[in-house]
Amino acid sequence: MHRVHAIQAFLVLVLCSSIASAAIVEHVFHVGNVLVKPLCNEQMIPAVNGTLPGPTIKVREGDTLVVHVINNSTYNITIHWHGVFQLKSSWMDGANMITQCPIQPSNNFTYRFDITGQEGTLLWHAHVVNLRATLHGALIIRPRSGRPYPFPKPYKEVPLIFQQWWDLDVGLLNLRPAPLCDAYLINGLAGDSYPCSKNRMFKLKVVQGKTYLLRIINAALNTHLFFKIANHNMTVVALDAVYTTPYVTDVMVLTPGQSVDALFTADQPTRLYHMSISPYTSAHGIPVPANNPINGLIVYEGATSSSPASPLMPWMNDVATAHKFSSNITGLVGGPHWKPVPRHVDEKMFVTMGLGLDPCPPKTKCIGPYGHRYAGSLNNRTFMIPERLSMQEAYFYNISGVYTDDFPAQPPRKFDYTNFKVQTDSDFKMMFPERKTSAKTIKFNSTVEIVVQNTGIISAESHPMHLHGFNFYVVGYGFGNYDPIRDASKLNLVNPQLRNTIGVPPGGYVVLRFIANNPGVWMFHCHMDAHLPYGIMMAFIVQNGPTPDTSLPSPPSNLPQCTRDPTIYESPKANVDLSY
Ligand code: C2O
Repeated sequence: MHRVHAIQAFLVLVLCSSIASAAIVEHVFHVGNVLVKPLCNEQMIPAVNGTLPGPTIKVREGDTLVVHVINNSTYNITIHWHGVFQLKSSWMDGANMITQCPIQPSNNFTYRFDITGQEGTLLWHAHVVNLRATLHGALIIRPRSGRPYPFPKPYKEVPLIFQQWWDLDVGLLNLRPAPLCDAYLINGLAGDSYPCSKNRMFKLKVVQGKTYLLRIINAALNTHLFFKIANHNMTVVALDAVYTTPYVTDVMVLTPGQSVDALFTADQPTRLYHMSISPYTSAHGIPVPANNPINGLIVYEGATSSSPASPLMPWMNDVATAHKFSSNITGLVGGPHWKPVPRHVDEKMFVTMGLGLDPCPPKTKCIGPYGHRYAGSLNNRTFMIPERLSMQEAYFYNISGVYTDDFPAQPPRKFDYTNFKVQTDSDFKMMFPERKTSAKTIKFNSTVEIVVQNTGIISAESHPMHLHGFNFYVVGYGFGNYDPIRDASKLNLVNPQLRNTIGVPPGGYVVLRFIANNPGVWMFHCHMDAHLPYGIMMAFIVQNGPTPDTSLPSPPSNLPQCTRDPTIYESPKANVDLSY
């Protein structure tokens, strides 16, 4: 039954259209269950065109991307184009039950959208339960032909995809505490840190003196990762497909869902060097995997010795190193696609974010505090993913009962967010968020400012918040409780980072601004996969503008329907809730 689709099945047609610089780039994604063996055991995983990671998509800015998804797997799936603006193509966002119902086994769907106004590295991934563990790949956007990079042209470009691997059937993955995985992979390979993969390590052959553009993606489900190359610096030139001021560093950290474009010059003596990743876990008191670095290899042409130099990795809870890298990079003002930061704000939101609790369901053993299970929340709302119809269809066809549009712009009450203590009944209530599918409605073209305040209600840790459909400016970034007077006067309205995913520091906050110029329903959620079922999520509904051209179009006629077939895999229900 399991059809392994060969690489040649991924056919690439680049049809040059009459406009010289825009093309239609077409791919076929055969999603099927295949056997892979990154460690010592073979495991059946869903994969695109038989590979882990899946195919790399390369387009130029301005191109139209067409991907035919043929679902021969046993899973319900969608494919999300993480970080792509989807301007006027919200139906193509691939957010399960937000913009579409999933593509069921033996069904097809074609995603078709333009990629405009962004250049760099993004990723595509499944957006249904935890299937993005193995259904993901790089999406590389180069400048239009004839347009240069805003940095010296690299000799070669190299995608580096970091992944998290559980050595068990992917369908059982959520029966394990989320951070505890069996390995991390670089481009599908576990390398010399694990017993059965010593000879299967990602190797990059380099020529002395040449400069390479590393297109780095953290596709791990649940772990932030540090990245270093022994004895070498790197120069960051883009984050989340937005150019930055060149930033020289010997270490970087990526949250799940983030990407970094960095130049790396082979300017050290001819030998072998490890490139290494290791987990960054900012949570306190949470089980963490061992801190072994996971290695790939840089091989200088002509190297003779066989023992690689290794980098010294930061300690796993090195918040200072992570924060320095994450907060010091600035946007490339005046660079391609740069737009000045909006000064005027139309919608101000203050959103508390963190983990709370939910009473343990009957006949279940929960491992959370007081015997409850964890529940994530934004402004004390745990987001419930709709089950019978996608939010955007409900919005478009005006069908009630799927969601409410009352997501609050403030938490239910003010408290000392980062030093939460239970002293009163009302404090105790704060630990139990309300379970709801709620959205915030925004007028077309308004500027939204969101202060995301990390709370310490259960545990403080970095949560990577990701916005669909837009990039946001990160105008504020700090520790402690956000002070609307003191901190508002320090916002960077000149050259902030512009990106789609940001780690909100443990016990800290970020201040984000975006312009709601794209009608549709857009998720804003934590990109730790384990925190999605916990409901660290909300949705924005951006209303139509004044013209047909600024309005949400009708859904494509073949948009997958939500007919529930109980025999299709959703996710097994554990009777021990180990989720963290
Ligand atoms: Cu990368 Cu909502 O996802």
